[in-house]
Amino acid sequence: MAQPVVADLVIRNIGELLTMKGVDDPVVAPEAADLGIIKRAEVAVKDRKIFYAGPKDAGGFVVGPQTMIIDAENKVVCPGFVDSHTHAIFAGTREEEFLMRQQGKTYAEIQAAGGGIVKTVRATRMASEEKLRDALKRNIFKLSRYGTTTAEIKSGYGLNTEEEIKLLRVVKEVALDTDILIVPTLLGAHVVPPEYVSRRQKYVELVARDMVPMVHENHLATFVDVYVDEGAFTPDEARQILKAARDYDMPRKLHADEMEDDHGAELAAEMGCVSADHLIWTNEKGMKAMAKAGVIATLMPGTVLSLGHSKFADARAFIAHGVPVALATDYNPGTCMCPNMLLVMALGVLHMKMTAEEVMVAATINGAAAVGRAGDTGSLRPGKDADLLVLDIDSYRELPYRFGENFARYVVAGGGVIKAPKVFKKKYLQES
Ligand code: NIG
Ligand code: FE
Repeated sequence: MAQPVVADLVIRNIGELLTMKGVDDPVVAPEAADLGIIKRAEVAVKDRKIFYAGPKDAGGFVVGPQTMIIDAENKVVCPGFVDSHTHAIFAGTREEEFLMRQQGKTYAEIQAAGGGIVKTVRATRMASEEKLRDALKRNIFKLSRYGTTTAEIKSGYGLNTEEEIKLLRVVKEVALDTDILIVPTLLGAHVVPPEYVSRRQKYVELVARDMVPMVHENHLATFVDVYVDEGAFTPDEARQILKAARDYDMPRKLHADEMEDDHGAELAAEMGCVSADHLIWTNEKGMKAMAKAGVIATLMPGTVLSLGHSKFADARAFIAHGVPVALATDYNPGTCMCPNMLLVMALGVLHMKMTAEEVMVAATINGAAAVGRAGDTGSLRPGKDADLLVLDIDSYRELPYRFGENFARYVVAGGGVIKAPKVFKKKYLQES
């Protein structure tokens, strides 16, 4: 008879287990209403993967002397959050711009006056690799405190080949040394750097012909992203860069329709992007094109809040058109210095009228799909990465209601317990 499997980690006494039905694909309404909830459940982890996620006492695993046990105390357990859009590698801060915006200055005015993205580019270019590495580690730590177990991280504050590659190398190095899953993205086309303003096309070519091939050859990024905006790149310029990415078989993303309707959503559909992100001003034609092409809408209400704007993306319309919606922080020093996915989910309910179920789907399986990792994370079934949260709430329906509170009590990333109460750490992790 085969030996029973001895679990590495068991989560017991789960009041509400949100399996997301164990799916490996993005979820669109009305399926989003069903979170695959199992009451009185348990989870077992073996070799960093989920071995069992289901009703208690039916798992076919055993507990050994080395097994770590989390008592969920009848609370909620869900998949770790996937923050599918961050700019977490940068130096410096821009709190003055934030405060100026609240006094009435616009993002575009600040950018035109020499602030904005180029301000962070200056600080980032000056920073040593060591300083960037430390800052990135701290930022990842912050993201993970609120339950993020997978994070996409974009370059974009280097804006020449050498500096962009430097950022992606640091991301890669940190990714190998961190518990959460990191998905790197080349955003060489964040804005046109000052050295190239009088010869924009040259910069577009630099990204398309130099950065994309080099990043591809050195396996430095999974995705290529472009910021389409009045103050950044035109749809035609973006098309050239996205085509280069496509030629190298690199999956694509697009910052689209953030400050006005640039027909970014249509461009994302045309170029077969995995996701289009922001989408505040997207029109119906764009939504239809995205639905048809299977592009995920990544919405970031924290950015709208931080910009002091009142218009949020029309999540209801995207969902009505059959577009899968993901939620992300956009964590960056200019437009959203907030690493908190729990708050972003609450904003999804408060300002975009998403349901409690839709925001859970958007932060887990749809986020995973937006970074091309829906086969690995974002839902709970045997074989997927053991990315799990124990939330200190009795029902997921409390999540938006308790906005602002960090109730991510345990965070398990790739089978490792990276956040836990003191008593657990003392017992199992030899920490005082
Ligand atoms: O997603 N939109 C472009 N990029 C960021 C802003 C970055 C910055 O201001 O530094 C965003 O909002
Ligand atoms: Fe962004």
